[in-house]
Amino acid sequence: MKVIKVKNYDEVSAEAFKVMKEVVANKPEAVLGLATGSSPIGLYENMIKDHKENGTSYAKCQSFNLDEYVGIDRNHSQSYWTFMHENLFHGIDLPEDKIHVPYGNTKADCEGYEKAMENVSVDIQVLGIGGNGHIGFNEPGTPFTEETHIVDLTEKTRSDNARFFENDINKVPTQAITMGIATIMKAKKILLVASGANKADAVAAMVNGPVDPACPASVLQNHPDVVVIVDEEAAAKL
Ligand code: GLP
Repeated sequence: MKVIKVKNYDEVSAEAFKVMKEVVANKPEAVLGLATGSSPIGLYENMIKDHKENGTSYAKCQSFNLDEYVGIDRNHSQSYWTFMHENLFHGIDLPEDKIHVPYGNTKADCEGYEKAMENVSVDIQVLGIGGNGHIGFNEPGTPFTEETHIVDLTEKTRSDNARFFENDINKVPTQAITMGIATIMKAKKILLVASGANKADAVAAMVNGPVDPACPASVLQNHPDVVVIVDEEAAAKL
C-alpha cells in the first residue's frame, strides 16, 4: 500500500488526478471503477477540466460504480446515479451506454451487476472511506468474500450521510446495493482518497491496523497495487 500525504483536499484531488490520468493515457479503453461521496468530487473536477482543456477522452472507457441507495429512484437528487451525472458524467465524453451504476434490491439485481462485470477487469477503482472504515457500502463485519449484495446501513453511516438529506437521518435510506469486497479487490489498481479529521481513525485502522472485517478498508493491505492519498488531517493518526 503506497500512502501519499499531502496538505489539503485540493492537493489530494490533484494527486489522485495524476494517477487516474496515467491509467487512461496508457489505456484509452480503460474500465473505471467509480465512487461517490464528497471525497472524489475534486478528482472528478480535475478530470472534467482536463477533458475540456487537453482533450483527454473517455469515449472508449466504461464505468462501474460501487454502490447505490435502495428505495430511492434513480432520478432522486441524492441517488448515486444523479450524483455521478452531476459531478462527472455531464462533463466528460463517457458514452451513456457504457455507464453502470448498480440498482435494485433483489438477489437477481446483485447477480445481474456481477454478470455485467464478468468479462471486464476494472483498471482503476476509485474509493473513499467511511468514518467507520467502510468501502463502497461494505460496513464493518462484512465478510471479505462477499460480491455485490444488499446491505443494511449502520446508524453511523446514515448519520454521516444525513447532511445530503436535509440533515434528517429519517430521510436517509436504510439499505444500499454495493459491490462486495471481493468485487472491489478484483480491480487491477485501487485509488483511495481521504481528507478531513473525521477520517483519521479509519485511515489509521486501514493502513496500520490488523486486516480484519471490523475495518473493511484494512483488506486493501492484501491488494498488490493500492495508492492511498490523504491530507494532513486524515493522516493525523498514522
Ligand atoms: C458513502 C459511500 C462511500 C464513501 C463514503 C464516504 O457511504 N457509499 O463510497 O466512501 O460515503 O463519503 P465522503 O467521501 O462524503 O466522506
